[in-house]
Amino acid sequence: MQTFLDAIRAAIAAETGLEDPKLGRPRDPRHGDSAFPCFEYAKGKGEPPPKVAAELETALNARLEGITAKAAGPFLNFTVDRARLGETILGEIAAGGACYGTSREGEGRTIVIDFSSPNIAKPMSVGHLRSTVIGASIQRLHEALGYRTVGINHIGDWGSQFGKLVAAVDRYGDTVDLEGDPIPSLLALYVRYHEEEESDPGLVEEAREAFRELESGVDGPVRQTWRKLTELSLVEFQKIYDRLGVSFDLVRGEAFYEPHLASAVDRVVDAGVTEESEGALVVDLSGFGKIPPCLLRKTDGTTLYATRDLAAVFHRQEEFAFDRCLYVVGADQRLHFRQLKHVLDRMGLDWEPKVEHVDFGMMRLPEGKMSTRKGRVVFLDDVLNDAVAEAARVIAEKNPDLVDPGAVAEMVGVGAVVFNDLKRERVKDIDFRLEEVLSFEGDTGPYVQYTHARLASIERKAGEIEAAPDWEVLEGAAPILVSMGRFGEVVRSAAARAEPSEVTTYVLSLAREVNSWVARERVLGQEPGVTAARLALARGARQVIGNALTLLGVGAPTEM
Ligand code: ARG
Repeated sequence: MQTFLDAIRAAIAAETGLEDPKLGRPRDPRHGDSAFPCFEYAKGKGEPPPKVAAELETALNARLEGITAKAAGPFLNFTVDRARLGETILGEIAAGGACYGTSREGEGRTIVIDFSSPNIAKPMSVGHLRSTVIGASIQRLHEALGYRTVGINHIGDWGSQFGKLVAAVDRYGDTVDLEGDPIPSLLALYVRYHEEEESDPGLVEEAREAFRELESGVDGPVRQTWRKLTELSLVEFQKIYDRLGVSFDLVRGEAFYEPHLASAVDRVVDAGVTEESEGALVVDLSGFGKIPPCLLRKTDGTTLYATRDLAAVFHRQEEFAFDRCLYVVGADQRLHFRQLKHVLDRMGLDWEPKVEHVDFGMMRLPEGKMSTRKGRVVFLDDVLNDAVAEAARVIAEKNPDLVDPGAVAEMVGVGAVVFNDLKRERVKDIDFRLEEVLSFEGDTGPYVQYTHARLASIERKAGEIEAAPDWEVLEGAAPILVSMGRFGEVVRSAAARAEPSEVTTYVLSLAREVNSWVARERVLGQEPGVTAARLALARGARQVIGNALTLLGVGAPTEM
């Protein structure tokens, strides 16, 4: 679909021979709807930017129709004819519908996204919630651009802690209701293990032995217990994924890569970058600065988290020949992913730059930092339940006649938590405060959802209008129209930077603009041509807001 920005880009490309001219926004919106900074192009030509801008002005005005170019120093500003703006942009949106903002530019390219990846036998943490919400949105953003996407849930189902759990199940399994209430039971067993281990060396030995047996690959009682823990945990995780509307193309835990560990280690050894250090096998990374070596195999022969991630990345590269491979994992694992990338680099693998750690900050709940070891955790389901209950309360107060308040409360409560998670740049820490997250007035999901519902209600009341729209009445709404025209650019940039917050920021500001427009200009009960034009704007805005919310994984209610 061709938008006015595409038209500008195409004209610049044709005129200059640039492959993908980068457009920006004029600092002062009164100067234009889009801007092309001429610095780089001028540099290439060896001419002063203002001269180049002036020349381009003439050439582009001859090429463009319905768009005026105007040089301003080193910049070239573009303004879409006001009389045509409404018709052009609202026409693009109506034609695109749910696909407005999407493109096929990623076609033929593959992106692997490792996200969510909670640890078996533990409650899913808010960190995993963040990974789930951010990762799912990044996947949707790439799908919108036509990429082939592969979402992988790299669950933590391997490591010495499973030896501890199996030992704890053997010893104290009878004291809990594993089948009936799996996660709290497993948590209790985990806590119990850590309470007893200091005074009970036998328990520690049992745990070590259990993990050794697991790693040996023997399909005996230990593996059976481990398998049961995995299955019970996955059922619990699924409940949260269902509420969030998130699914995975592949659920492959760390254990999946177990059969590939030996060959992965061999591959690193064959590349000649390993060395022995106190009996362990490591890759020295001192060439990259002050960074500890990457440990591949411990003295006792067991492997590590890093070994499994190496095996996984080799496997993914071979299976998918990815163009990008993202790891949506908290910033606390920065060192781990730097080490992983440095090992690939030292091995001379040219695809190393395609591997990216998409890191994010911490979410602090009012209860303070959580610790699974001490059993101090917040259950995610409780967070979502609280949000939904609060949403239900507010809805009952504001709109007691709503038809299906339960469904809307779920959409608003869960949507509020998701939106809040995507609101700021992902590296920023978040302080989670339920009242703020659920406010209908602030920079929140419910505010945007409310705007969507408000527009939908205007559409319902207006019904079908026969009259031809009188586009001129939308002159005052030019900034809103231009914002809506930019949506595709926002999707592109958010995907490229793996930064869904660009979409949240965008949709919040669009919602604000639209709300003040609705308060200013009446849609219903005007001259038919006036109502028709304003209704088209309301419909277009509802569509764009809805499309943006969908990309974020937030429901778009038509009533609330
Ligand atoms: N399970 C890990 C954790 O909770 C996250 C795994 C992230 N993905 C990866 N390929 N390392 O810390």
